[in-house]
Amino acid sequence: MIELRSDNAAGVAPEVLAAVQEANTGSALAYGGDDLTAHLHDVVRDVFEHPTARVFPVTSGTAANSLAISAATPPWGAVLCHPSAHIITAEGGATSLFGGGAVMQGVAGAHALIDPDNLRSALDGVRWGDPHESQPSVLSLTVPSDFGTVYQPDEIKVLTAIARERGLKVHLDGARVANAVAALGCTPADLTWRAGVDVMALGATKNGALSAEAIVAFDEEIADELVYRTKRAGHVTSKMRFQSAQLAAYLTDGLWLRLAANSNERMATLAAELGAIDGVRLVERVDVNMAFAELPAAAIDVVTDAGVCFYRNGPSDIRLVTSWQTTAEDVAQAAALFRAAMTSP
Ligand SMILES: Cc1ncc(COP(=O)(O)O)c(C=O)c1O
Repeated sequence: MIELRSDNAAGVAPEVLAAVQEANTGSALAYGGDDLTAHLHDVVRDVFEHPTARVFPVTSGTAANSLAISAATPPWGAVLCHPSAHIITAEGGATSLFGGGAVMQGVAGAHALIDPDNLRSALDGVRWGDPHESQPSVLSLTVPSDFGTVYQPDEIKVLTAIARERGLKVHLDGARVANAVAALGCTPADLTWRAGVDVMALGATKNGALSAEAIVAFDEEIADELVYRTKRAGHVTSKMRFQSAQLAAYLTDGLWLRLAANSNERMATLAAELGAIDGVRLVERVDVNMAFAELPAAAIDVVTDAGVCFYRNGPSDIRLVTSWQTTAEDVAQAAALFRAAMTSP
């Protein structure tokens, strides 16, 4: 079996698991009052070059996104995001639940990235101050997008500047942000708060952690709200030290970027191989560890039967995702199976 369904299907990185084992000595104050959680704050401030950033470990990306946004919007707010964004398509309305009824509204753009002109038009078209209409309050950017494409830091700056003119806060869904930072070769700060982001979901589970995610807040007011909101949502875990130990190890010495670089590089090879096969069409740019391809349904069946696991989005549409765990051999074998399926009668 070759695993290409999701980076969520991968295991836990050995370094992260070792950090949990190391944290498992003696006792420590509960609910984040422990030394490892204090250490995590130092690590986050160091990695993001932000002296007052605050970090809130949670247990899922959905919790990270919806709680982060809830702390940035009033209940009558509208959260603007790309129509393909995970928060609007795949989180069961968690943002509206925790946001007290705030709605999500799509703003389109090519390559699953919000187009600045569309954002401006959306904001220009709002009846500001009219209680009959939800009032845009947050711009949410998914980086990388759900189609594996990334904004350049300057493109984020343009969008956040437009949002700021209207007083919106900016949220970044960073479920795979390590893959974006690794692919762009920029600093985490340049992609986030220096580009105008107020609060972000850090990701981690997809890239080697064990149900450990975090909200990183660069904005003090949002952070103050999150103290209460994370607790009320049941995300202030008593043994938080084990999440904090993972997240600190994940961010230390560039581990998160090494893990992400592996998945990106494996996907770059796989995408190049697939793109070179007659009859296979990559339907989106491949910037990180995800690829979307179109090929005949019969060939998809053959590759599936041969043990390559991926998501089928339609009869002829597939999604492939590599992870920190994907090997060069996995990629070579998968590519060979796709090639054989396309060339056999
Ligand atoms: C872009 C993006 N954001 C958020 C999430 C949510 O993460 P979780 O499934 O841990 O709630 C996912 C999960 O696949 C995702 O792909």
